[in-house]
Amino acid sequence: MSVREEFDEWATAGKDRGMEDRHWHTAKHVLARMPVEPDDVVLDLGTGSGYALRALRERGIDRGYGLDGAPEMARNARSYTDDDRLGFLVGDFDSLPFADDSVDHVVSMEAFYYAADPHTTLSEIRRILRPGGTWYCAVNYFAESEHTHQWQELIDIEMTLWNRSQYREAFRKAGFHVASQDTIPDREIDIPPADAFPTDDWDSREAMVDRYRTWGTLLTVGVAP
Ligand SMILES: C[S@@+](CC[C@H](N)C(=O)[O-])C[C@H]1O[C@@H](n2cnc3c(N)ncnc32)[C@H](O)[C@@H]1O
Repeated sequence: MSVREEFDEWATAGKDRGMEDRHWHTAKHVLARMPVEPDDVVLDLGTGSGYALRALRERGIDRGYGLDGAPEMARNARSYTDDDRLGFLVGDFDSLPFADDSVDHVVSMEAFYYAADPHTTLSEIRRILRPGGTWYCAVNYFAESEHTHQWQELIDIEMTLWNRSQYREAFRKAGFHVASQDTIPDREIDIPPADAFPTDDWDSREAMVDRYRTWGTLLTVGVAP
């Protein structure tokens, strides 16, 4: 299945808003760390409902572009705002429709691991970022978070499963300095008492705690030299 087929279906079913609600638990901490300034241009890769850009506009960025491979996602995102400083584009992570050195910050929340070739995507991000620009890559599917690995069986797109060190190495190979890397736990999701397990999604309370409280979202921050 293609990104378009998979995620158009999600958008049509309204899952974009569900993701926004769940991802916001950690996304708000990711966005709060971004050193955005009023004149800045920000690109959100795999924008989904576009919530990240709407939040960054409240911090005064000049322009935001949300790129998504699923036209229905981009269409929904457009319909959630009338802000003419935000634009939503259909495109693929493999080839970013931006000029060299034209973007101040790139952010991506729970989407980078869908890139068909993550190294090409990193080179593309490096190409479009201006010197000193930042790249905030947040993923909740990564090697150390073992209880996320089952997602690959549920999604018909090949996903990249890197560990923390592989993220850092790939960033450096693409020409970034790695400014920081850490995990942001989701402290808001409700975890039921042990006797409520198994649930539809989780075999045990330990697995759910490991996924959300122990690991949460891996954030790797690259800076363009
Ligand atoms: C799990 S959703 C996350 C959406 C949003 N960032 C959030 O936090 O809710 C991943 C998004 O990335 C998009 N996507 C996945 N692979 C892509 C690719 N190769 N090129 C462009 N968009 C892609 C999907 O269409 C989907 O909207």
